[in-house]
Amino acid sequence: MSTAVISGGTDGIGRALADVYLRRGHEVVVIGRSRAKGDAFVAAGGDRAHFLPVDLRRVGEVRRLVDHLAERFPAIDALVLGARFCSSRRVVTPDGFESNFALFYLSRFLLSHGLAPSLGRAADPVVLNFGGAGAPNAVRWDDLQLAHGYHGVRAMGHAARLNDLLAVSFSALHAELGVRYVLNHPGVVVTSFAGEYDAVTAAQVEQLKVTGKSVATSVAQILPYLDAGEDRVTAVHEGVRRPLDPAHFDPADAMRLHTITEGLLARAPR
Ligand SMILES: NC(=O)c1ccc[n+]([C@@H]2O[C@H](COP(=O)([O-])OP(=O)(O)OC[C@H]3O[C@@H](n4cnc5c(N)ncnc54)[C@H](OP(=O)(O)O)[C@@H]3O)[C@@H](O)[C@H]2O)c1
Repeated sequence: MSTAVISGGTDGIGRALADVYLRRGHEVVVIGRSRAKGDAFVAAGGDRAHFLPVDLRRVGEVRRLVDHLAERFPAIDALVLGARFCSSRRVVTPDGFESNFALFYLSRFLLSHGLAPSLGRAADPVVLNFGGAGAPNAVRWDDLQLAHGYHGVRAMGHAARLNDLLAVSFSALHAELGVRYVLNHPGVVVTSFAGEYDAVTAAQVEQLKVTGKSVATSVAQILPYLDAGEDRVTAVHEGVRRPLDPAHFDPADAMRLHTITEGLLARAPR
């Protein structure tokens, strides 16, 4: 039986993808923090629906999650990396990481690499990461966790940029596994927009909830790229495939970031 693992699968686009994979007969594991949402997914989905409550900002919790998933599901066909939480205020986790960096980038790094062997055992494995998909954000090499000039929305854009580089290094480091890595920028989609917002950003979010596209439309735009593809890395913006700009998806930058990330994680509490 096929398996899909979805971080941020309790809400928004992740939840909709979880429902798609359930309808297709997969075992589906959703990861989030809300027991109410997770239990609702399991109640609606039946025996093949699973919920794992994990705070993905915490490195130790993510590591335990990876170990659990690797043991429980020897082959993983689809890994969707969709958890996000936008904070207008800069928050540092007990591990010492800026919280958006921890959730939006580090957890995706750990899940991608940690589950690579399980993905490699599937017939046509795919990772979907909601990165920037080529959106032109500069990497702030001297301040990856935005200690200076932090802004919640900018922090998400910056982490999305880091995930674009994660796709490149993942594909280089696990080339033999045949995993397709799809980067998706969905555009504005009406979801829960999980976050804690200041008044200005909250008003902007309310506006986005009026103008954005539906979750169903967003899922329809990305599903064809999950279901088939030839390339190791694919970037998709609102359903349209984007060429991989060599300067943006630079392998040297990707490996530089990979090395820095390993160094940061090595110092995180076990
Ligand atoms: N919606 C848009 O307009 C838009 C635009 C551009 C990019 N994207 C990207 O698309 C992806 C999906 O976004 P969305 O808008 O569909 O999501 P969403 O509705 O905001 O839901 C966020 C998800 O993240 C989970 N989450 C938040 N904090 C968490 C934590 N600390 N640990 C574990 N899980 C946590 C939530 O789970 P719980 O509630 O269970 O905690 C929820 O399932 C994200 O990567 C987002 O950046 C979305």
